[in-house]
Amino acid sequence: MPNPHIPVITIDGPTASGKGTVAQRVAQHLGFHYLDSGALYRLTALSVIRRDTPLDDEHALAKAAEHLHCHFNGAHIFLANEDVSNAIRAEEVGNLASKIAAIPTVRQALFGLQLSFRQHPGLVADGRDMGTVIFPHAGLKVFLTASVEARAERRYKQLIDKGFSANMEDLSKDLAERDARDSNRSSAPLKAAEGAYLLDTSAMTADQAVEQVLRWYAATKPI
Ligand code: CDP
Repeated sequence: MPNPHIPVITIDGPTASGKGTVAQRVAQHLGFHYLDSGALYRLTALSVIRRDTPLDDEHALAKAAEHLHCHFNGAHIFLANEDVSNAIRAEEVGNLASKIAAIPTVRQALFGLQLSFRQHPGLVADGRDMGTVIFPHAGLKVFLTASVEARAERRYKQLIDKGFSANMEDLSKDLAERDARDSNRSSAPLKAAEGAYLLDTSAMTADQAVEQVLRWYAATKPI
């Protein structure tokens, strides 16, 4: 049973806002565990693609999420025993992840797995609903945003670095569609949690964003 007294920092935000990089660095700095909740939706999507699960069969999609045989080892993510760290970053996988993430039974199937990441000495969790649904009592909640242009550029660099092909026009369109889907769904829509600090990183480096989150975290602790 995850301990409710273990500190949690939630970092939510739209696609390609840089929250993954910021969350990982904050976790590293504090010696905390890190939950990339988006990776769980991406892993479910990859498993669905690999097994040819019919996309209109909600029950089968929820089962795929419930029986996700995944594990994390540092920056490496495994599905069954295959290292899929790169494969899950493909845009095709991200787009399907965003579609199946709108299904409440899929979200429910991943609920307990996400809670289990709350381990000593603490957790930094990044996603869309970390502060609103999964860890609503987190000690620090951050909502990280950036302009569509800054996000498209970051995603472009990320994809090229991973050896995928990409073009800015398609990416900007993808981002806008993903934003609309994530924000307008009825189950756990993307929005800032109550009490979340807003951080617009359009004109910030990742290090500046990390420093700001660490300052906020230091201020949450009693002297
Ligand atoms: O990398 P990017 O920010 O585009 O996406 P991600 O964080 O890897 O998440 C992939 C998809 O999973 C998102 O587009 C969301 O629709 C969904 N997701 C979610 O619904 N709830 C979360 N806590 C995390 C991700």
